[in-house]
Amino acid sequence: MKILLSNNDLNEALYNVSNLGFVPTMGSLHEGHISLIKKSIKECKKTIVSIFINPTQFNNKKDFKNYPRNIKKDLLILKKLRINFVYLPSVKDVYHFKRKSPIKLKKKDKILCAKFRKGHFEGVIDVIDRLTKMIKPQKIYFGEKDFQQLYLIKKYNPKKLNVKIISCPTIRNLNKLALSSRNNLLTKNQLIKAEKISKKIFLFKKKISQNRNINTLVYKLKKELTNLFNIKFDYLELRNKSNLQVSNKIKNSKLFVAYYINKVRLIDNF
Ligand code: PAF
Repeated sequence: MKILLSNNDLNEALYNVSNLGFVPTMGSLHEGHISLIKKSIKECKKTIVSIFINPTQFNNKKDFKNYPRNIKKDLLILKKLRINFVYLPSVKDVYHFKRKSPIKLKKKDKILCAKFRKGHFEGVIDVIDRLTKMIKPQKIYFGEKDFQQLYLIKKYNPKKLNVKIISCPTIRNLNKLALSSRNNLLTKNQLIKAEKISKKIFLFKKKISQNRNINTLVYKLKKELTNLFNIKFDYLELRNKSNLQVSNKIKNSKLFVAYYINKVRLIDNF
């Protein structure tokens, strides 16, 4: 595994590499990331993973500062997986040029996390655009846990990025909690709480059948969870998975959720 620390390292290493799979990450790797990396290794001749905690996608400085960092452990995991390259750029490497026109979301996309984390997805799209243009992979891998991220990047593609986007299913622990780097920020009791919340939403979605009052039931679930676990929701909403518009039909829809356990914000979709 080659460790690439600068754009020069990157250009030298990737010169003449074709059929490259790219897994962008912010580190603190878990089984979710590992599933993307394994898929890339299976599908592509070479695999590159980037670890870059992108400052522009944090709408809150404290959140950026507190984001989990585990670079030593990450490198051990990547070495074991036998990927070809890991890219650890600096902020300067990634943001070495200023964009002529800033990335903007359409009004109808300013929903779910875009509504609650101003500028977040603009930062995500910007960094993915920059990394993809530097790395020039054939395929890029994203997890469905960040469904809105995946949706917006797919929308931004294909004309701009010229890469095949591969989406991979969310990996959950035995108690249905989606794996996330942010789980590292939870105490043991908070983790148990998050697992109970996930299990309840998971079972609700599984058991519910089409019903005229489906959004009332979703609202009731949100109220019940708020009271039971003393948590604050940004949203719990049923939306169509093809266009992310609010839906009152189970078919082709997902329940999207973002909530806080103390100061830790967790997101998921079921
Ligand atoms: O999903 C993430 O970890 C990040 O948003 C990404 C895609 C690596 C961009 O910084």
